[in-house]
Amino acid sequence: MVTWNDLKNECLACNKCELSRTAKNVVIGRGNENASLMFVGEGPGKEEDEQGLPFVGKAGQLLDHLLNAIPFQPDEYYITNIVKCRPEGNRDPSDEEAQNCLPHLRNQFRLMRPKIIVCLGRISAKYLIHPDFKITQNRGKWFDKGGTKMMAVYHPAYLLRNEKEKVTQWNDFMEIRKALNEYIK
Ligand code: URA
Repeated sequence: MVTWNDLKNECLACNKCELSRTAKNVVIGRGNENASLMFVGEGPGKEEDEQGLPFVGKAGQLLDHLLNAIPFQPDEYYITNIVKCRPEGNRDPSDEEAQNCLPHLRNQFRLMRPKIIVCLGRISAKYLIHPDFKITQNRGKWFDKGGTKMMAVYHPAYLLRNEKEKVTQWNDFMEIRKALNEYIK
């Protein structure tokens, strides 16, 4: 069984794909490593690559704003991504890049044993819920994977371009809040 230290060292030493050669920083995760709730995005953007932390750019600020408003306390969640190194130009990670990186995420699942996993956007849902995941049809629905509750919501960057969907995102996050309350009451 790996420890968080092993996992971090494995991520830092990883050179299984080309992304590791151009990334400034390996972005492993932020938040409480013992939380019951895990958010999984797609991959680091420019700001995340600079800072070595996930969701710290514009989309991340919107995500934090929503989390604070619901509210979720900062120690109630952990945030990570499908790929830990930045795909240049903010393109989607390729299948090969995602498959090479998924073992790191699986180790994060093993260490954290989250009760609830929330996929931020279609790419994350594609790898964690279903390969043909349709975000507009299936966001906001609960899926059960081996006793873990999983839901996909819109990617925060999508909301920056589609303000009217913020209401939908609010409602989905309220459902996540309710589900988390079931585990902590
Ligand atoms: N978008 C993502 O999917 N992840 C990040 O960490 C930042 C932006």
